[in-house]
Amino acid sequence: MNKPDLHPESLMMSYGYRPEWSEGAVKCPIFQTSTFVFKTAEEGKAHFELAYGLRQPKEGEQVGLIYSRINNPDLEILEDRLGLWDEADDCAVFESGMSAITTVLLEFLQPGDVVLHTNPLYGGTDHFISEILPKYGIESVEWNSCDSYEALQQRLEAKLQGKRLGVVYIETPANPTNTLYDIEWGKRLAEHFSSDAHKAVVVVDNTYLGPLWQHPLKHGADLVAYSATKYIGGHSDVIAGAVSGKADYMQRVKVLRTFLGNMAGPWTGWLLLRSLETLQLRMERQAKNARLVAEFLRGHPKVEKVHYLGFLDENTPEQYAIFRKQCKNAGAMLSFDVKGGEPAAFRMLNSLKLVKLAVSLGSTESLAQHPASMTHAGVPPQRKAEMGITDKMVRLSVGVEHPDDLIWDLKQALEQA
Ligand SMILES: Cc1ncc(COP(=O)(O)O)c(C=O)c1O
Repeated sequence: MNKPDLHPESLMMSYGYRPEWSEGAVKCPIFQTSTFVFKTAEEGKAHFELAYGLRQPKEGEQVGLIYSRINNPDLEILEDRLGLWDEADDCAVFESGMSAITTVLLEFLQPGDVVLHTNPLYGGTDHFISEILPKYGIESVEWNSCDSYEALQQRLEAKLQGKRLGVVYIETPANPTNTLYDIEWGKRLAEHFSSDAHKAVVVVDNTYLGPLWQHPLKHGADLVAYSATKYIGGHSDVIAGAVSGKADYMQRVKVLRTFLGNMAGPWTGWLLLRSLETLQLRMERQAKNARLVAEFLRGHPKVEKVHYLGFLDENTPEQYAIFRKQCKNAGAMLSFDVKGGEPAAFRMLNSLKLVKLAVSLGSTESLAQHPASMTHAGVPPQRKAEMGITDKMVRLSVGVEHPDDLIWDLKQALEQA
Protein backbone atom coordinates (compact mmCIF):
# COMPACT_ATOMS: atom_id res chain seq x y z
CA MET A 1 0.00 0.00 0.00
CA ASN A 2 1.44 3.34 -1.02
CA LYS A 3 0.66 5.42 2.08
CA PRO A 4 1.44 8.93 0.79
CA ASP A 5 -1.12 8.48 -2.00
CA LEU A 6 -3.96 7.59 0.33
CA HIS A 7 -6.12 10.03 2.26
CA PRO A 8 -6.20 9.79 6.07
CA GLU A 9 -9.88 8.72 6.02
CA SER A 10 -8.89 5.71 3.91
CA LEU A 11 -6.23 4.71 6.39
CA MET A 12 -8.29 4.98 9.59
CA MET A 13 -9.50 1.37 9.31
CA SER A 14 -6.19 -0.36 8.71
CA TYR A 15 -3.06 1.74 9.08
CA GLY A 16 -0.47 0.38 11.49
CA TYR A 17 -2.16 -2.99 12.08
CA ARG A 18 -1.80 -6.36 10.38
CA PRO A 19 -4.46 -9.09 10.96
CA GLU A 20 -1.78 -11.82 11.03
CA TRP A 21 -0.57 -10.34 14.33
CA SER A 22 -3.87 -11.38 15.97
CA GLU A 23 -5.17 -14.66 14.54
CA GLY A 24 -6.50 -12.87 11.43
CA ALA A 25 -8.76 -10.52 13.40
CA VAL A 26 -9.85 -7.73 11.06
CA LYS A 27 -9.86 -5.29 13.95
CA CYS A 28 -7.04 -4.68 16.36
CA PRO A 29 -8.02 -6.46 19.61
CA ILE A 30 -7.92 -4.74 23.01
CA PHE A 31 -4.52 -5.52 24.51
CA GLN A 32 -5.82 -5.35 28.07
CA THR A 33 -2.51 -6.16 29.68
CA SER A 34 -0.22 -4.23 31.97
CA THR A 35 2.99 -5.96 30.92
CA PHE A 36 4.55 -7.93 28.04
CA VAL A 37 6.63 -11.13 28.12
CA PHE A 38 10.18 -10.91 26.75
CA LYS A 39 11.37 -13.89 24.68
CA THR A 40 14.76 -13.76 26.38
CA ALA A 41 16.53 -11.66 29.01
CA GLU A 42 18.69 -10.26 26.19
CA GLU A 43 15.56 -9.03 24.40
CA GLY A 44 14.28 -7.37 27.61
CA LYS A 45 17.65 -5.65 28.04
CA ALA A 46 17.58 -4.43 24.41
CA HIS A 47 14.03 -3.02 24.81
CA PHE A 48 15.02 -1.09 27.92
CA GLU A 49 18.20 0.24 26.34
CA LEU A 50 16.12 1.83 23.58
CA ALA A 51 13.26 2.96 25.81
CA TYR A 52 15.68 4.72 28.17
CA GLY A 53 17.81 6.14 25.34
CA LEU A 54 20.91 4.26 26.55
CA ARG A 55 22.00 3.56 22.98
CA GLN A 56 20.98 4.47 19.44
CA PRO A 57 18.64 2.00 17.65
CA LYS A 58 20.22 -0.26 15.04
CA GLU A 59 18.94 0.01 11.44
CA GLY A 60 15.14 -0.67 11.54
CA GLU A 61 15.13 -1.43 15.28
CA GLN A 62 12.17 -0.15 17.33
CA VAL A 63 11.39 -0.12 21.04
CA GLY A 64 9.69 -3.46 21.77
CA LEU A 65 6.63 -3.81 23.98
CA ILE A 66 7.58 -3.52 27.65
CA TYR A 67 4.85 -2.28 29.99
CA SER A 68 1.59 -0.45 29.21
CA ARG A 69 2.68 2.78 30.89
CA ILE A 70 5.50 2.94 28.31
CA ASN A 71 3.86 1.34 25.26
CA ASN A 72 0.83 -0.76 24.27
CA PRO A 73 -0.33 -1.84 20.77
CA ASP A 74 -3.73 -0.10 21.00
CA LEU A 75 -2.05 3.20 21.86
CA GLU A 76 0.75 2.85 19.33
CA ILE A 77 -1.62 2.07 16.45
CA LEU A 78 -3.94 4.87 17.54
CA GLU A 79 -1.05 7.33 17.71
CA ASP A 80 0.15 6.32 14.23
CA ARG A 81 -3.33 6.90 12.79
CA LEU A 82 -4.08 10.12 14.65
CA GLY A 83 -0.77 11.66 13.61
CA LEU A 84 -1.69 11.19 9.92
CA TRP A 85 -4.30 13.98 10.05
CA ASP A 86 -1.73 16.55 11.08
CA GLU A 87 1.09 14.93 9.08
CA ALA A 88 2.96 14.83 12.38
CA ASP A 89 6.17 12.89 13.01
CA ASP A 90 4.69 11.37 16.14
CA CYS A 91 1.71 11.48 18.45
CA ALA A 92 1.07 10.67 22.13
CA VAL A 93 -2.31 9.82 23.62
CA PHE A 94 -3.24 10.79 27.17
CA GLU A 95 -5.95 9.98 29.69
CA SER A 96 -7.53 13.46 29.18
CA GLY A 97 -7.11 16.65 27.20
CA MET A 98 -5.95 18.37 30.39
CA SER A 99 -3.22 15.79 30.95
CA ALA A 100 -2.02 16.31 27.35
CA ILE A 101 -1.91 20.09 27.81
CA THR A 102 -0.38 20.12 31.30
CA THR A 103 2.29 17.59 30.33
CA VAL A 104 3.37 19.76 27.41
CA LEU A 105 3.46 22.90 29.56
CA LEU A 106 5.42 21.18 32.34
CA GLU A 107 7.92 19.72 29.88
CA PHE A 108 8.72 22.98 28.07
CA LEU A 109 8.54 25.43 30.98
CA GLN A 110 10.86 25.81 33.94
CA PRO A 111 10.86 28.11 37.01
CA GLY A 112 11.49 31.71 35.96
CA ASP A 113 10.01 31.21 32.48
CA VAL A 114 7.16 33.17 30.94
CA VAL A 115 4.32 31.64 28.93
CA LEU A 116 2.46 33.75 26.36
CA HIS A 117 -1.15 32.64 25.92
CA THR A 118 -4.18 33.67 23.90
CA ASN A 119 -7.48 34.74 25.43
CA PRO A 120 -9.94 33.22 26.20
CA LEU A 121 -8.71 29.73 26.97
CA TYR A 122 -10.66 26.65 27.92
CA GLY A 123 -11.42 27.16 31.65
CA GLY A 124 -9.20 24.27 32.82
CA THR A 125 -6.19 25.50 30.83
CA ASP A 126 -6.80 29.05 32.02
CA HIS A 127 -6.82 27.86 35.65
CA PHE A 128 -3.63 25.82 35.18
CA ILE A 129 -1.75 28.78 33.66
CA SER A 130 -3.06 31.48 35.98
CA GLU A 131 -3.28 29.54 39.29
CA ILE A 132 -1.01 26.48 39.20
CA LEU A 133 2.02 27.53 37.12
CA PRO A 134 2.76 30.63 39.29
CA LYS A 135 3.36 28.22 42.23
CA TYR A 136 6.37 27.00 40.25
CA GLY A 137 7.60 30.50 39.44
CA ILE A 138 6.14 30.58 35.92
CA GLU A 139 4.39 33.79 34.93
CA SER A 140 2.14 34.51 31.97
CA VAL A 141 1.46 37.27 29.46
CA GLU A 142 -1.93 37.51 27.76
CA TRP A 143 -2.44 37.85 24.02
CA ASN A 144 -5.79 39.43 23.16
CA SER A 145 -7.40 39.49 19.74
CA CYS A 146 -7.26 43.33 19.67
CA ASP A 147 -3.44 43.33 20.13
CA SER A 148 -1.26 44.43 17.25
CA TYR A 149 1.88 42.35 16.66
CA GLU A 150 4.09 45.26 17.75
CA ALA A 151 2.11 45.84 20.98
CA LEU A 152 2.39 42.18 21.81
CA GLN A 153 6.12 42.10 21.20
CA GLN A 154 6.59 45.18 23.41
CA ARG A 155 4.47 43.69 26.22
CA LEU A 156 6.57 40.54 26.12
CA GLU A 157 9.82 42.53 26.10
CA ALA A 158 8.68 44.47 29.17
CA LYS A 159 7.81 41.25 31.00
CA LEU A 160 10.78 39.12 30.01
CA GLN A 161 13.69 41.33 31.19
CA GLY A 162 16.19 38.50 30.85
CA LYS A 163 13.68 35.72 31.51
CA ARG A 164 13.01 33.00 28.94
CA LEU A 165 9.88 32.84 26.84
CA GLY A 166 9.21 29.13 27.34
CA VAL A 167 5.97 28.47 25.48
CA VAL A 168 3.61 30.35 23.17
CA TYR A 169 0.26 28.71 23.89
CA ILE A 170 -2.49 29.36 21.35
CA GLU A 171 -6.09 28.17 21.49
CA THR A 172 -7.65 28.92 18.13
CA PRO A 173 -10.59 29.10 17.63
CA ALA A 174 -10.99 29.97 21.30
CA ASN A 175 -13.56 28.25 23.47
CA PRO A 176 -16.32 29.56 23.73
CA THR A 177 -16.12 32.79 21.67
CA ASN A 178 -14.68 31.34 18.42
CA THR A 179 -12.01 34.09 18.45
CA LEU A 180 -9.21 33.28 15.98
CA TYR A 181 -5.47 33.80 16.51
CA ASP A 182 -2.75 33.87 13.89
CA ILE A 183 -0.41 30.93 14.49
CA GLU A 184 2.28 32.55 12.31
CA TRP A 185 2.40 35.48 14.74
CA GLY A 186 3.03 32.99 17.53
CA LYS A 187 5.86 31.42 15.54
CA ARG A 188 7.41 34.82 14.77
CA LEU A 189 7.26 35.82 18.43
CA ALA A 190 8.73 32.49 19.51
CA GLU A 191 11.60 32.91 17.04
CA HIS A 192 12.18 36.54 18.08
CA PHE A 193 12.56 35.57 21.74
CA SER A 194 14.56 32.37 21.13
CA SER A 195 18.33 32.01 21.25
CA ASP A 196 20.86 29.33 20.26
CA ALA A 197 20.66 27.99 23.80
CA HIS A 198 16.90 28.02 24.09
CA LYS A 199 13.96 27.80 21.70
CA ALA A 200 10.44 28.85 22.69
CA VAL A 201 7.89 26.16 21.74
CA VAL A 202 4.63 26.99 19.94
CA VAL A 203 1.71 24.84 21.09
CA VAL A 204 -1.77 25.05 19.55
CA ASP A 205 -4.92 23.62 21.15
CA ASN A 206 -6.78 22.46 18.03
CA THR A 207 -9.75 20.92 19.86
CA TYR A 208 -12.34 23.29 18.41
CA LEU A 209 -11.67 22.54 14.72
CA GLY A 210 -10.44 19.03 15.32
CA PRO A 211 -7.90 17.22 13.16
CA LEU A 212 -9.89 17.82 9.95
CA TRP A 213 -10.37 21.53 9.67
CA GLN A 214 -7.11 23.11 10.86
CA HIS A 215 -3.52 21.90 10.66
CA PRO A 216 -1.46 24.09 13.01
CA LEU A 217 1.84 22.33 12.26
CA LYS A 218 1.61 23.70 8.71
CA HIS A 219 1.30 27.24 10.08
CA GLY A 220 4.33 27.15 12.35
CA ALA A 221 3.23 25.26 15.48
CA ASP A 222 5.69 22.81 16.99
CA LEU A 223 3.02 20.80 18.77
CA VAL A 224 -0.74 20.44 18.43
CA ALA A 225 -2.86 19.41 21.42
CA TYR A 226 -6.36 17.95 21.51
CA SER A 227 -9.01 17.10 23.97
CA ALA A 228 -9.72 13.75 22.27
CA THR A 229 -12.86 13.65 24.40
CA LYS A 230 -14.37 15.90 21.71
CA TYR A 231 -14.42 15.23 17.93
CA ILE A 232 -11.79 12.46 18.02
CA GLY A 233 -13.80 10.38 20.53
CA GLY A 234 -17.00 11.88 19.23
CA HIS A 235 -19.58 9.89 21.22
CA SER A 236 -19.45 11.47 24.72
CA ASP A 237 -18.31 8.15 26.18
CA VAL A 238 -14.59 8.60 26.71
CA ILE A 239 -12.19 11.14 28.23
CA ALA A 240 -8.84 11.37 26.44
CA GLY A 241 -6.24 13.75 25.04
CA ALA A 242 -3.53 13.79 22.39
CA VAL A 243 -0.44 15.72 21.35
CA SER A 244 1.14 15.49 17.88
CA GLY A 245 4.16 17.18 16.40
CA LYS A 246 7.82 17.21 15.57
CA ALA A 247 9.85 14.15 16.55
CA ASP A 248 12.33 15.79 18.92
CA TYR A 249 9.59 17.58 20.89
CA MET A 250 7.39 14.48 20.93
CA GLN A 251 10.19 12.38 22.38
CA ARG A 252 10.37 14.76 25.35
CA VAL A 253 6.57 14.73 25.74
CA LYS A 254 6.53 10.92 25.74
CA VAL A 255 9.30 10.68 28.32
CA LEU A 256 7.44 12.97 30.73
CA ARG A 257 4.23 11.03 30.06
CA THR A 258 6.02 7.84 31.08
CA PHE A 259 7.02 9.35 34.42
CA LEU A 260 3.73 11.16 35.12
CA GLY A 261 1.95 7.95 34.13
CA ASN A 262 -0.91 9.82 32.46
CA MET A 263 -1.09 7.82 29.23
CA ALA A 264 -4.46 6.53 28.05
CA GLY A 265 -5.26 2.90 28.85
CA PRO A 266 -5.82 0.16 26.22
CA TRP A 267 -9.62 0.32 26.45
CA THR A 268 -9.58 4.08 25.80
CA GLY A 269 -7.13 3.51 22.95
CA TRP A 270 -9.41 0.89 21.39
CA LEU A 271 -12.48 3.14 21.71
CA LEU A 272 -10.62 5.95 19.97
CA LEU A 273 -9.45 3.62 17.18
CA ARG A 274 -13.10 2.80 16.57
CA SER A 275 -14.06 6.49 16.64
CA LEU A 276 -11.37 7.46 14.15
CA GLU A 277 -13.03 5.32 11.47
CA THR A 278 -16.00 7.72 11.33
CA LEU A 279 -14.19 10.95 12.23
CA GLN A 280 -14.53 12.52 8.83
CA LEU A 281 -18.15 11.42 8.29
CA ARG A 282 -19.22 12.77 11.67
CA MET A 283 -17.39 16.05 11.38
CA GLU A 284 -18.65 16.77 7.88
CA ARG A 285 -22.25 16.15 8.90
CA GLN A 286 -21.83 18.23 12.05
CA ALA A 287 -20.42 21.15 10.06
CA LYS A 288 -23.29 21.03 7.55
CA ASN A 289 -25.82 21.00 10.38
CA ALA A 290 -24.03 23.85 12.16
CA ARG A 291 -24.37 26.16 9.17
CA LEU A 292 -28.11 25.55 8.95
CA VAL A 293 -28.53 26.06 12.71
CA ALA A 294 -26.40 29.22 12.67
CA GLU A 295 -28.47 30.67 9.83
CA PHE A 296 -31.68 29.94 11.71
CA LEU A 297 -30.33 31.56 14.91
CA ARG A 298 -29.10 34.65 13.06
CA GLY A 299 -32.60 35.42 11.90
CA HIS A 300 -34.28 34.85 15.27
CA PRO A 301 -35.68 37.93 17.07
CA LYS A 302 -34.58 36.68 20.52
CA VAL A 303 -30.97 36.19 19.42
CA GLU A 304 -28.74 39.26 19.64
CA LYS A 305 -25.61 37.86 18.00
CA VAL A 306 -24.30 34.54 16.64
CA HIS A 307 -20.57 33.80 17.04
CA TYR A 308 -19.98 31.42 14.14
CA LEU A 309 -16.86 31.24 11.98
CA GLY A 310 -18.96 30.85 8.83
CA PHE A 311 -20.30 34.40 9.32
CA LEU A 312 -16.90 36.10 9.25
CA ASP A 313 -16.59 38.55 6.37
CA GLU A 314 -14.98 41.84 5.32
CA ASN A 315 -16.63 43.61 8.27
CA THR A 316 -14.14 41.87 10.57
CA PRO A 317 -11.10 41.90 8.27
CA GLU A 318 -8.44 40.61 10.71
CA GLN A 319 -10.50 37.63 11.89
CA TYR A 320 -11.64 36.88 8.36
CA ALA A 321 -8.05 36.91 7.09
CA ILE A 322 -6.99 34.40 9.75
CA PHE A 323 -10.00 32.24 8.94
CA ARG A 324 -9.12 32.11 5.26
CA LYS A 325 -5.48 31.39 6.00
CA GLN A 326 -5.83 28.75 8.72
CA CYS A 327 -9.28 27.15 8.75
CA LYS A 328 -10.57 24.66 6.21
CA ASN A 329 -14.14 24.79 7.50
CA ALA A 330 -16.26 26.86 9.90
CA GLY A 331 -16.72 23.80 12.11
CA ALA A 332 -19.64 22.80 14.28
CA MET A 333 -19.18 25.01 17.34
CA LEU A 334 -21.08 28.22 17.75
CA SER A 335 -22.24 30.46 20.52
CA PHE A 336 -25.04 32.99 20.55
CA ASP A 337 -26.21 35.81 22.79
CA VAL A 338 -29.80 35.55 23.98
CA LYS A 339 -31.65 38.85 24.48
CA GLY A 340 -32.54 39.19 28.18
CA GLY A 341 -29.26 37.93 29.72
CA GLU A 342 -28.89 34.97 32.07
CA PRO A 343 -32.60 34.55 32.98
CA ALA A 344 -33.61 34.34 29.33
CA ALA A 345 -30.62 32.11 28.45
CA PHE A 346 -31.51 29.76 31.34
CA ARG A 347 -35.19 29.62 30.34
CA MET A 348 -34.10 28.69 26.85
CA LEU A 349 -31.64 26.02 28.06
CA ASN A 350 -34.24 24.55 30.44
CA SER A 351 -36.73 24.23 27.58
CA LEU A 352 -34.54 22.20 25.20
CA LYS A 353 -36.01 18.80 24.38
CA LEU A 354 -33.62 17.18 21.86
CA VAL A 355 -30.41 19.13 22.48
CA LYS A 356 -28.86 18.06 25.82
CA LEU A 357 -27.98 20.63 28.48
CA ALA A 358 -24.40 19.49 29.12
CA VAL A 359 -20.81 20.70 28.83
CA SER A 360 -18.36 19.15 26.32
CA LEU A 361 -18.48 19.31 22.55
CA GLY A 362 -17.78 17.58 19.26
CA SER A 363 -20.03 14.57 19.82
CA THR A 364 -22.74 12.95 17.76
CA GLU A 365 -25.44 14.51 19.94
CA SER A 366 -25.93 18.28 20.13
CA LEU A 367 -25.02 19.86 23.47
CA ALA A 368 -25.77 23.32 24.84
CA GLN A 369 -24.38 25.05 27.93
CA HIS A 370 -23.91 28.46 29.57
CA PRO A 371 -20.12 29.21 29.57
CA ALA A 372 -20.23 32.12 32.07
CA SER A 373 -21.70 29.91 34.83
CA MET A 374 -20.44 26.50 33.68
CA THR A 375 -17.22 25.80 31.69
CA HIS A 376 -15.74 29.25 32.42
CA ALA A 377 -17.20 29.69 35.95
CA GLY A 378 -13.68 29.79 37.42
CA VAL A 379 -12.53 32.76 35.29
CA PRO A 380 -12.71 36.03 37.34
CA PRO A 381 -15.66 38.28 36.27
CA GLN A 382 -13.42 41.08 35.00
CA ARG A 383 -11.50 38.70 32.71
CA LYS A 384 -14.72 37.07 31.54
CA ALA A 385 -16.03 40.50 30.54
CA GLU A 386 -12.80 41.30 28.65
CA MET A 387 -13.05 38.01 26.78
CA GLY A 388 -16.70 38.54 25.81
CA ILE A 389 -18.01 35.64 27.91
CA THR A 390 -21.23 37.26 29.00
CA ASP A 391 -24.29 36.08 30.94
CA LYS A 392 -26.33 36.13 27.73
CA MET A 393 -24.04 33.69 25.89
CA VAL A 394 -25.08 30.11 25.17
CA ARG A 395 -22.60 27.68 23.58
CA LEU A 396 -23.87 25.07 21.17
CA SER A 397 -22.03 22.02 19.89
CA VAL A 398 -23.91 20.77 16.85
CA GLY A 399 -24.29 17.01 16.40
CA VAL A 400 -25.37 14.69 13.60
CA GLU A 401 -29.15 14.79 14.17
CA HIS A 402 -31.52 15.83 11.36
CA PRO A 403 -31.08 19.60 11.02
CA ASP A 404 -34.85 20.19 10.89
CA ASP A 405 -35.20 18.57 14.32
CA LEU A 406 -32.43 20.68 15.79
CA ILE A 407 -33.97 23.86 14.43
CA TRP A 408 -37.41 22.81 15.69
CA ASP A 409 -35.96 22.27 19.19
CA LEU A 410 -34.06 25.58 19.29
CA LYS A 411 -37.12 27.43 17.98
CA GLN A 412 -39.47 26.08 20.64
CA ALA A 413 -36.83 26.68 23.38
CA LEU A 414 -36.21 30.27 22.25
CA GLU A 415 -39.94 30.92 22.46
CA GLN A 416 -39.60 30.30 26.23
CA ALA A 417 -36.66 32.73 26.50
C1 LIG B 1 -10.56 23.64 23.96
C2 LIG B 1 -10.41 22.60 25.04
N1 LIG B 1 -9.17 22.22 25.39
C3 LIG B 1 -8.99 21.31 26.36
C4 LIG B 1 -10.04 20.74 27.05
C5 LIG B 1 -9.79 19.75 28.15
O1 LIG B 1 -10.04 18.45 27.72
P1 LIG B 1 -10.50 17.23 28.65
O2 LIG B 1 -11.83 17.57 29.23
O3 LIG B 1 -10.51 16.07 27.74
O4 LIG B 1 -9.47 17.10 29.74
C6 LIG B 1 -11.35 21.11 26.70
C7 LIG B 1 -12.49 20.51 27.41
O5 LIG B 1 -13.62 20.94 27.27
C8 LIG B 1 -11.54 22.06 25.66
O6 LIG B 1 -12.76 22.46 25.29
